[in-house]
Amino acid sequence: MVNEKLAELVKTSKPSVAVVGLGGAGCNITTWIAEKGMAGGKIIAANTDVNHLSTMSKADKLILLGEKLCKGHGCGGYPEMGAQATKENIAEIKTELEGTNLVFLVAGLGGGTGTGAIPVVAEVTREVGALTIACVTIPFKIDQFRREKAREAIQALTESCDSTIVIDNSKLREVAGNLPLKEALAVANALVGAFVKNITETITQPSLINLDYADLRAVMERGGISSIGIGEGDGEERVTKAVSQALAVPLLDISDMSATYGVLIHIVGGEDMTLEEVAVTGELIMDKVPNTKRVIWGAKVDDQLTGRVRVMAVLTGVKSPFMDGQ
Ligand code: GTP
Repeated sequence: MVNEKLAELVKTSKPSVAVVGLGGAGCNITTWIAEKGMAGGKIIAANTDVNHLSTMSKADKLILLGEKLCKGHGCGGYPEMGAQATKENIAEIKTELEGTNLVFLVAGLGGGTGTGAIPVVAEVTREVGALTIACVTIPFKIDQFRREKAREAIQALTESCDSTIVIDNSKLREVAGNLPLKEALAVANALVGAFVKNITETITQPSLINLDYADLRAVMERGGISSIGIGEGDGEERVTKAVSQALAVPLLDISDMSATYGVLIHIVGGEDMTLEEVAVTGELIMDKVPNTKRVIWGAKVDDQLTGRVRVMAVLTGVKSPFMDGQ
């Protein structure tokens, strides 16, 4: 009897996680996650474009947004239409998210569907009491008109979501080289996808160092705008290499790194990764952001990474020159 009660408690104490991909880019990112496989989270793909949505067969749930308004044709770049379309499906979205503790809202900003849908879905996630993390990309610098739309959207997201993690597509070119457009977008999808998958698995599955949902909440709740840095290293100095790379090129420019409010560190390595290396990673990052109020970390072993470590640092509550129009 006691065991049954314990088993029930373990089940209900596990946070329930959902990832919602909104619009074309958002759905592409959920496809990346679904193809890799994600333990412990539900994947929802929602779009106004029926053709694109019908190719998202790997998601757990597909939602055609605004069938009456958009007739399956997309939003043509108008966020107001994206917002209106999403309101048509609000009851269905709420049913899907009821009981969820953590929701990732994923989109490429600058178009109509994703940009318009995120704040509307964020209202639902707030109603159900879930910690809401928006993970968004912003268009390349040459596309100033769409970047302006993205800037306005991020401003709105800082009100409606707990944290908004922003990846600037233009920064990807610095990290991944001058890739052709399609490949650069695929790199962005992989980055956002890996972030969502890593965090979900580290809070719902046994890991080398588990991330606690309460800790995640403490760093991400009302976290404002966040930037993310990713680094990888091998050989003797692999930890130092990975941390330097992660902090050298944050994927959203930061005005003053030392003013960072919170830090979430995630480390993945092969079977040979030591706890000492995990601790050193934390220390190296903390040296760079000494005024940080909160720090949490998680670590996971991936046997395909033998000999290497991969570090991801999320810096929350940052100020970015992008938001000042640069
Ligand atoms: P509508 O097409 O107007 O209905 O809106 P949408 O939200 O579906 O637009 P979409 O997601 O296609 O594009 C929004 C922004 O994301 C644009 O600036 C695109 O350049 C960019 N984008 C398009 N596809 C991808 C993708 O697969 N990954 C990433 N990261 N960005 C993409």
